[in-house]
Amino acid sequence: MRNKIDILQTKVQQAHAGGGEARIEAQHKKGKLTARERLYFLLDENSFEEIGMLVTHRSTDFGMEREKYSGDGVVTGYGTITGRLVYVFSQDFTVFGGSLSETHAEKICKIMEMALKNGAPLIGLNDSGGARIQEGVVSLGGYADIFYRNVQASGVIPQLSAIMGPCAGGAVYSPAITDFILMVESTSYMFVTGPNVVKTVTHEVVTSEELGGASTHATKSGVTHFACANELEAINHLKMLLSYMPQNCEEIPIQLPYTAGNESRPSLSSIMPENANQPYDVRSIVEELVDSDSFLEVHKDYAENIVVGFSRLAGRSIGIVANQPAYLAGVLDNHASVKAARFVRFCDCFNIPLLVLEDVPGFLPGTDQEWNGIITNGAKLLYAFSEATIPRITVITRKAYGGAYDVMNSKHIGADMNYAWPTAEIAVMGAKGAAEIIFKKEISSAEHPEKKWLEKEKMYSDIFANPYRAAERGFVDEVIQPSQTRIKLIKAFKMLENKVVNSPRKKHGNIPL
Ligand code: HXC
Repeated sequence: MRNKIDILQTKVQQAHAGGGEARIEAQHKKGKLTARERLYFLLDENSFEEIGMLVTHRSTDFGMEREKYSGDGVVTGYGTITGRLVYVFSQDFTVFGGSLSETHAEKICKIMEMALKNGAPLIGLNDSGGARIQEGVVSLGGYADIFYRNVQASGVIPQLSAIMGPCAGGAVYSPAITDFILMVESTSYMFVTGPNVVKTVTHEVVTSEELGGASTHATKSGVTHFACANELEAINHLKMLLSYMPQNCEEIPIQLPYTAGNESRPSLSSIMPENANQPYDVRSIVEELVDSDSFLEVHKDYAENIVVGFSRLAGRSIGIVANQPAYLAGVLDNHASVKAARFVRFCDCFNIPLLVLEDVPGFLPGTDQEWNGIITNGAKLLYAFSEATIPRITVITRKAYGGAYDVMNSKHIGADMNYAWPTAEIAVMGAKGAAEIIFKKEISSAEHPEKKWLEKEKMYSDIFANPYRAAERGFVDEVIQPSQTRIKLIKAFKMLENKVVNSPRKKHGNIPL
């Protein structure tokens, strides 16, 4: 008996040794943690239960039968984060560079299936040289097995991906299908084809970092939702992100205990600049409205003209979509539309109510926008809001012009409550442009055209640069004092907590991709 137990212990020790001391040291020298160290920091103490520790690869080509490591380059299992069940896989770069073999893929698939069956989030810590080169097509098949399961799980359980090393080739598509991607500055990168192939094909000379580093994907492509300074920051972000989400699509997010206090926010009454064209940072409104320090911004450095993120209101998890007047005057453009649409759909998948703060002068005009598909991309946001069945509330703080009025969670596309501040301006377009079009003849034939234009601009502005026309129609449910906004929102979200929508039966809609 003793002997048999010793054999088991030796096997466990071998598995824990990964690719050996030298490779672990090399990993640390790069500023990277090992697969097991990452899990240690991610999961509650002593909560990790490993599955498949003794799995080894089956490859016999290139003398591979002589080089086997228990676990085959990925640590898989389940554990808890603040007491909540999660399934995890953590790729071990010290074993064949974390590359994906047939058995490595099978281990990940097994965990994915368990997560799906048991309705708990899946977290992937990626650090891999891609397909196991010695295995050929079985490795490619393994990737596709993972992609397929990512799609089956999409919208059923939250799926989070942290990129903590290389992630190249088709390997990028598993994280891309998951709900959120976090990357680590300087030590992680993602690209479909690396710098060498880029140089051969397009003659561009570019580094890995420039091509697919965390900053690149956080600012230029929007592929990553978070760029974290180091691995520990990424792990903390994963935990924070998870705290706003339920375990699966059948549940609602955990509500934190909340003791009601004075919910009036007098500073909001003076937050809007006197001049309607003056920018301000919408985050200052968000911070006043939500529970203190509860705002977690997503996609912070991408499409900054729209702000999206999670927060809490009286302990309740909510998603926020807000036009950002401090950047491009808060216009909707291609990137902002897609960014917000994806966020809205995530919230809708997982029963996270939505708050929309609207101050938008319209869609950005120009050839760049049109040629890059603002029609299709704007439609994505329109579609995402329209199909969302979660509680949805809009507060128009200032501008709500043109098509953007409709798109930004208007009453007409199914918002539950629409509030406006007295500073709201709701019209087809700004007064200056409107006057120029509808009083064109009068202005050009006037003795002093400029004066006439100003006069007509004022006339249009007096009629429409306010929330009352919309309120008269019921398009706005109530014009509210800015200081009372938090109180109104707390009450309205509570009122909407049992909302049920019976959508028409269909296989699935056809969002304009
Ligand atoms: C097998 C691999 C491997 C791979 C790395 N290793 N990548 N083994 N298959 N794909 C092994 C190395 O042989 C080495 O083994 C160890 O991992 C560490 O690799 P190094 O090169 O020493 O590390 P580093 O200098 O940090 O470079 C990391 C790297 C590089 C940039 C990832 O290894 C690399 O370019 N690897 C190949 C990447 C690649 O082309 N993959 C296929 C992509 S296509 P030892 O024994 O020395 O420790 C793809 C298609 C997926 O993935 C399609 C899905 C649809």
